[in-house]
Amino acid sequence: MTSSYLAKRRMRKVFCLDDFEPAARRHLPASIFAYVCSPAETGQSMDDNRAVFQDIRFVPRILRDVSKRTTARPLWGHEWAAPFGISPMAVSALTAYRGDLVLAQAAAAENIPMVMSGSSLMRIEDVIKAAPKSWFQAYLPPTTERIAALVQRVANAGFETLVVTVDVAVRGSTEHYERAHFHSPLQPGLRLLWEGLSHPAWAIGTFGRTIATTGLPHFENSDSEKRIPVMARNMVREFSGRAHLAWDAMERIRAQWKGKLILKGILHPHDAQKAKVLGVDGIVLSNHGGRQLDGAVSPMRVLPAVRAAVGDMPLMIDSGFRRGTDVIKALALGADFVFVGRPFNYAATVGGHAGVVKASTILKKEIFDALGMMGVTSPESLNAGYVKVAADALTRFDDVLDQ
Ligand SMILES: Cc1cc2nc3c(=O)[nH]c(=O)nc-3n(C[C@H](O)[C@H](O)[C@H](O)COP(=O)(O)O)c2cc1C
Repeated sequence: MTSSYLAKRRMRKVFCLDDFEPAARRHLPASIFAYVCSPAETGQSMDDNRAVFQDIRFVPRILRDVSKRTTARPLWGHEWAAPFGISPMAVSALTAYRGDLVLAQAAAAENIPMVMSGSSLMRIEDVIKAAPKSWFQAYLPPTTERIAALVQRVANAGFETLVVTVDVAVRGSTEHYERAHFHSPLQPGLRLLWEGLSHPAWAIGTFGRTIATTGLPHFENSDSEKRIPVMARNMVREFSGRAHLAWDAMERIRAQWKGKLILKGILHPHDAQKAKVLGVDGIVLSNHGGRQLDGAVSPMRVLPAVRAAVGDMPLMIDSGFRRGTDVIKALALGADFVFVGRPFNYAATVGGHAGVVKASTILKKEIFDALGMMGVTSPESLNAGYVKVAADALTRFDDVLDQ
């Protein structure tokens, strides 16, 4: 049986992005699936990332000629095919064979942006060569020298867009995936062996195939030089050490990095304003898909306030987007671009390149259809007049002091 036949079989019941999740749950060992799907603590933020869309309803317009519509969206001189992209996700090459490359190449084929995670298992140099429009996301190493070396490496590799994730000053709760026995690095042992034996398609098609072709994967890009294997007994990955970092670290990066610079993980309008003053090219509103600070507000609830604070600076958003209509609600409330995480990870897991293309195609079609039903012909035509927001659905900042 060829891998494309198996991918098709796994995707035969996929009609929307949410359908990829049960397929991935069946395919992956429980511990690895738990790592991808889990929220932090009680899941308040992850739940709110979905609940917020119930508070925003459309007020469509009628009898306008919508026969010629486009989902295309320009950003910094490039016209992307759709107003969405793929969020950075750690260890994507553990869930899908050569996952980072699969996501990057499928995104390139679909002409949508893909952000490669700093906690990835493939070398950035290989991914950017294969998909030159990919963006890179960095977690900041603890020292000024190591940050500068990483930024230099990303520039040398040829990336034009650097996303720095700033909502992980300290690591979020790992309770859910520890409960499911997920460790990073993976710990070899009977449990892992059993998980592999009970999920042979993943064990052979992803993990075994990776080891057979390129050896045991390592965290290649968290730092300029340090490489940590994805599987090791008694080894602890360094997640701490950046708690002391502050805005001056970003000032130094801005001075060093000549390409587009984006801050990811902002939720407060004052921070968005600070980022703008510092000279970043754009920001991503995000609560990390509800994986970091449980109870953090859904970025949709702060979007209009942040838009008002930053004027026309490119404003992106992620966390909980699953439908074309979700994307349209964000665009109407002031976002320029939306990013989607888990569904693309699941799509690569169960369907490889074809899976990611399928996920992108589904979302694009949903947006295309919804634009027509809204009475508009392009993402740019949307504005707050097309939505009705429930009272108290949005976070008010006029009584919030900057601390
Ligand atoms: C498995 C997984 C790994 C992630 N790893 C990273 C990462 O390395 N860097 C980062 O900035 N965000 C990371 N995120 C957060 C995503 O970039 C994004 O903010 C979030 O997934 C969006 O929410 P959604 O999954 O509901 O679409 C990760 C998310 C998931 C699900």
